[in-house]
Amino acid sequence: MSAPILQLSGFFPRAFTPLNLWIWQKLEDSCLEADAALHSWKARLFGNARGVVLEIGAGTGINRKYLGYPVTYLGLEPEPNSYLQLNAIADTAFCAVAESIPLPAESVDCIVCSMTLCSVKDLSLTLNEVYRVLRPDGRFLLIEHVGAPKATWLRSFQRLFRPACQCLDRGCRPDRDTAEALRSCRLVMEDFTEFQLKLRGPLIRDWITACLIKPEAS
Ligand SMILES: C[S@@+](CC[C@H](N)C(=O)[O-])C[C@H]1O[C@@H](n2cnc3c(N)ncnc32)[C@H](O)[C@@H]1O
Repeated sequence: MSAPILQLSGFFPRAFTPLNLWIWQKLEDSCLEADAALHSWKARLFGNARGVVLEIGAGTGINRKYLGYPVTYLGLEPEPNSYLQLNAIADTAFCAVAESIPLPAESVDCIVCSMTLCSVKDLSLTLNEVYRVLRPDGRFLLIEHVGAPKATWLRSFQRLFRPACQCLDRGCRPDRDTAEALRSCRLVMEDFTEFQLKLRGPLIRDWITACLIKPEAS
């Protein structure tokens, strides 16, 4: 079995200790818990993915099971221990970050992600990369938790705890304005849904699912 690796802010100091194994397992358990809670949302959203499908921040490949059609499944995951598990189930896996996707322009039909845009270091770079690798008319399907509305107590609480979350939970920023970033990127929003679901304690409450399209003539 691969050595467990804990991400502490930025990327992964490689400390192969029982403590890190324990924390890594806790993070995996919380992903499984979130997966169970989001099951019907994910099935509806990711069931539409077709062709060559790239998942960014794929973790261990937990979302592979939702891809209803026969697809070519490419997974991208920077955390080495998760990557090794992803590599066992993906057609091709990349140990890389979403800010720099190791694929040619216009090479995938669909990009999917869940609980990843909160974690990437640079969201606008990530959205540029999504745009670059998608074929014209390709889809970006995502389900993400987002920051609470501005000037609310929950938002202040999220901002207060952001450094701890970033440090302990693979870069997660609970107060990120992901919806705003999606609206101002070059992809076109086709579907957008907001909902609330409490997961991982009081910090995470607001969620979005979205389908964005890369316009044909771009
Ligand atoms: C909360 S986990 C979600 C994992 C999986 N998508 C799921 O829904 O269970 C966030 C994932 O994003 C990955 N991640 C963090 N920074 C990233 C980056 N810059 N590019 C791509 N993935 C990143 C983490 O390693 C982790 O696997």
